[in-house]
Amino acid sequence: MIDISTNIASLKLENPTILASGILDETAGSMISILENGAAAVVTKSIGLKPRKGYPNPTIIELEYGILNAMGLPNPGIKEYREEIIEVKRNGGIIIGSIFGSTPEEFISLAEKMESYGVNALELNLSCPHASGYGLEVGQDRKLVKTIVEEVKNSVHIPVFAKISSNLSDISSIAKAIIDGDADGIVAINTVKAMTIDLELQKPILSNKIGGYSGRAIKPIGVRCVYEITEEYSIPVIGVGGIVSGEDALEYIMAGASAVEIGSGIYYRGVDIFKKICREIESWMELHNYRNIKDLIGVAH
Ligand SMILES: Cc1cc2nc3c(=O)[nH]c(=O)nc-3n(C[C@H](O)[C@H](O)[C@H](O)COP(=O)(O)O)c2cc1C
Repeated sequence: MIDISTNIASLKLENPTILASGILDETAGSMISILENGAAAVVTKSIGLKPRKGYPNPTIIELEYGILNAMGLPNPGIKEYREEIIEVKRNGGIIIGSIFGSTPEEFISLAEKMESYGVNALELNLSCPHASGYGLEVGQDRKLVKTIVEEVKNSVHIPVFAKISSNLSDISSIAKAIIDGDADGIVAINTVKAMTIDLELQKPILSNKIGGYSGRAIKPIGVRCVYEITEEYSIPVIGVGGIVSGEDALEYIMAGASAVEIGSGIYYRGVDIFKKICREIESWMELHNYRNIKDLIGVAH
């Protein structure tokens, strides 16, 4: 019997696959469908205090090796989103609430509401590469990161994960700030800051000009970040970025990730990518005589 169950802090997952924030997670219906298709847990769309429309189109474009998007954190606001979380919980799913804000007070308020709605854990979005005043702008300030993590941790009783960017000049010092704030885990990485230009219009294609790149092309960047963090610190890490196959997931796990999130991969392999990846992991393990996935975490170090 092959065991692919894993833990992130106190969160127990029956397999290592989790839906990444921002893809098919605006409604309870789509999150429940992802859980039925084999994901051990889902992360919600990043939710803020107030409803936000996001940027005008074009907001997303498929490129040769990945997807470029600048959605602008569109979301219905924390109050409106309550029903979606309650519905997923009613179905018995594990749900991680992703939140964004620009001050510790905003994060605390969102975290407390998410906890009261019943989420199993929180993911602090400190890394959206294209939202002015949020995300990476917050996530590259060491002091602010530590304060946000620390104050959220003091306000809730569920595990708190912090999601970081690969666009940091010094990933180690931000990881340290997150650890000093007593986070239960680090999620690495968000999309990578990028741009594409339309030759005929001679202008950037996205309305926001700059966006975040996801999918296959960013896997080596994410793997490098997970490796760097786990080489230096012993905090649990969730790997994300460019995972399309079981082999991709195993690469993150060998780099030190205890679980993985999958977003763009759904576009390439369908909503049942979670089941497919679990099967591929099991086949690889069987072929290589591994019985427990935990024996593979961090073996590349
Ligand atoms: C359309 C789209 C929307 C996203 N929205 C969010 C978001 O709201 N919050 C967040 O933390 N990450 C967001 N992300 C980033 C993903 O969660 C993930 O970190 C990134 O896409 C890399 O993983 P992937 O290559 O598997 O897609 C978004 C990604 C895409 C493609």
